[in-house]
Amino acid sequence: MSDLLPRTAFGQALPSPKASDACIRRLALRRSAPAQDLAPPGPSAEQLEAILTLGARTPDHGKLFPWRLVVLSPERKADLVQKLEPLAADQADPTRALAVLAKFRNPPCTVLVISSPTPGHKVPVWEQQLSAGAVCMNLLHAADAFGFSANWITDWYAYDPRTTRLFGVREGEQVAGFIHVGTAANPSLERPRPAVADLASEAS
Ligand SMILES: Cc1cc2nc3c(=O)[nH]c(=O)nc-3n(C[C@H](O)[C@H](O)[C@H](O)COP(=O)(O)O)c2cc1C
Repeated sequence: MSDLLPRTAFGQALPSPKASDACIRRLALRRSAPAQDLAPPGPSAEQLEAILTLGARTPDHGKLFPWRLVVLSPERKADLVQKLEPLAADQADPTRALAVLAKFRNPPCTVLVISSPTPGHKVPVWEQQLSAGAVCMNLLHAADAFGFSANWITDWYAYDPRTTRLFGVREGEQVAGFIHVGTAANPSLERPRPAVADLASEAS
């Protein structure tokens, strides 16, 4: 458990939330930064441990923890990029496939979230996969809370079996996302957001 986080113990009564203007403000202003623009500094080892701990603090039906996290160092990524580059040629748009590797290569810190559901369990695989997505979102929030910019990326190498093998993704597993973390030189610009009135309704 990271020293940067409050300690908790199984069965402990956790404090009830209190409204926090700072927290609401961060949730309202959080925004991904272009992954290719993420630069050092990234999180320290201690901050990364805390970010991973917060990421893993995610709802999952049945306490299956149907996901796992792989930290990719810049050195490991440089090695992987060398192996990915030739495979870009086989993609539908090879020039773009090569260009988007900058999103993978440039960030100083990358966490690969792998969805590892248990098939045939009473908790449907879909729910287990949703939990992996929730881990990705929690990692984004955790990175934000530590003052870093981040982005959730998949791209073609998340789906090609030849590339997922390189990342250590096993049979029955899937890439939920690469969570890239670093520092952005420029503030992100707001993007279109759905009007809640258009997507939320009262049950009829
Ligand atoms: C599952 C998933 C996969 C994504 N994959 C990519 C990707 O491969 N390339 C990309 O440019 N953006 C990708 N995005 C979108 C970026 O994360 C984008 O920055 C994000 O949707 C911006 O949302 P925000 O403004 O709320 O932070 C993906 C998003 C999700 C949820």
